[in-house]
Amino acid sequence: MSDWNFKTIIEPFRIKAVEAIPILSRAQREAALGAAGYNVFRLLAETVTIDMLTDSGTGAMSAAQWAALMIGDESYAGSRSFVRFESVVKRLTGYPYIFPVHQGRAAERILSRTVLPPGSIVVNNTHFDTTRANIEQAGALAVDLPVAAAGDPRDTSPFKGDMSLPALDQALEKGVTLVMLTLTNNAAGGQPVSMGNIAAVSARCRAAGVPFFLDAARFAENAWFIHTREPGYADIPLPELARQMFDLADGCLISAKKDGIAHIGGVLATRKKDWADLFRNELILGEGFPTYGGLAGRDLECVAVGLEEALDIDYLRYRARSVAYFAEQLERVGVPVVQPPGGHAVYADAGRLFPHIPAEQFPGQALVAALYLEGGVRAVEIGSLMFPAAKLQLVRLAMPRRVYTQAHIDYVVEVAGRVAARAADVRGYRIVEEPPFLRHFSATLAPIT
Ligand code: F0G
Repeated sequence: MSDWNFKTIIEPFRIKAVEAIPILSRAQREAALGAAGYNVFRLLAETVTIDMLTDSGTGAMSAAQWAALMIGDESYAGSRSFVRFESVVKRLTGYPYIFPVHQGRAAERILSRTVLPPGSIVVNNTHFDTTRANIEQAGALAVDLPVAAAGDPRDTSPFKGDMSLPALDQALEKGVTLVMLTLTNNAAGGQPVSMGNIAAVSARCRAAGVPFFLDAARFAENAWFIHTREPGYADIPLPELARQMFDLADGCLISAKKDGIAHIGGVLATRKKDWADLFRNELILGEGFPTYGGLAGRDLECVAVGLEEALDIDYLRYRARSVAYFAEQLERVGVPVVQPPGGHAVYADAGRLFPHIPAEQFPGQALVAALYLEGGVRAVEIGSLMFPAAKLQLVRLAMPRRVYTQAHIDYVVEVAGRVAARAADVRGYRIVEEPPFLRHFSATLAPIT
């Protein structure tokens, strides 16, 4: 249905199976965080009340997905579940060559190892960290070309995920191997990319003869923002709109753990036959036979159903509204957030909330620890702990799909409000031990007293 005209946007589902969530005492949370070295990645999930660490693989599957799981065909070659998966992805994207992979970064690895010889240059609006790591592992260079507005948390432009076209023109003149757009732009606040920008990037790539791929992990949320924010798209059905995005590119990588609403899975797809031949060989080396690609037949079924459910208009309206509501309520209780709110998460601006904590004492980590100690809420720091040169000290509160209700969000807002009320008393952290790379996953920290 599309004529919903109520002020209240309801969860467009009812709940058939429930899972108890842990409710801990303050003393238990203090003990758990201390034992985890003040790093929430080291916490056991059974000590977390509301888990907003990621929206990846953490969604609630529908009854249709659980039912499809039971009819998964586990044949090694030519399974019925692959045929279904392939036909759904073909309908969604229009690409003729479809490969299942076990998750998004497997597609990144296959792409990087086959078509990016050492010295290649890849440009993107902003590479997600695993995408960058796979490109660099192949000896290629990953360059981010975001628009200027992406760096300003208070700028409310509707499409801060766009790529800078003047920067792309300059890059193409110097020579580029592959152009990518990440929809939505996760590393830059979950901001959407406009159809106008996708079309402009596509036209430039075609003129220059450079292949153009989408990292389409959150293709449905991106399509929703085009539908609601970009003139001319309000009356186009969402599957058609998504198809227009894919039509502009030569292929895509999809982590099905996001808008596939599956617990595991991914897609690598293209219209380029020469690249498809390379992908297939690399897939067999690392993932499995091309009709299952590192997944069980039942996983292919869940992804096939999820990819279509993600484009349901009532679901997307609720999804975007619940993220926007969360952002509004956080600002109301004194927690500044990146504006406008993105599609899958709210990014709190810890640098502004804690101006008394210098970047080298990790204001984002201070907020992450305070949210956990106050109410068992787990978020992730995206600041100087994750990226030592970070310009902004952010904390991402990701929204798993179809998992938490408005009451859960109201609770998180109450927890955050209590932290904001005593912001001046919150102290920074120092690192006790850190690994040589990706330190945020495993470093141990201590509060500065
Ligand atoms: N691309 C984007 C834009 C992503 O956000 C992710 C994962 C990947 C690729 C890799 O996919 O995890 O299936 O291998 N993002 C998760 C997150 C981990 O928390 O944002 P994957």
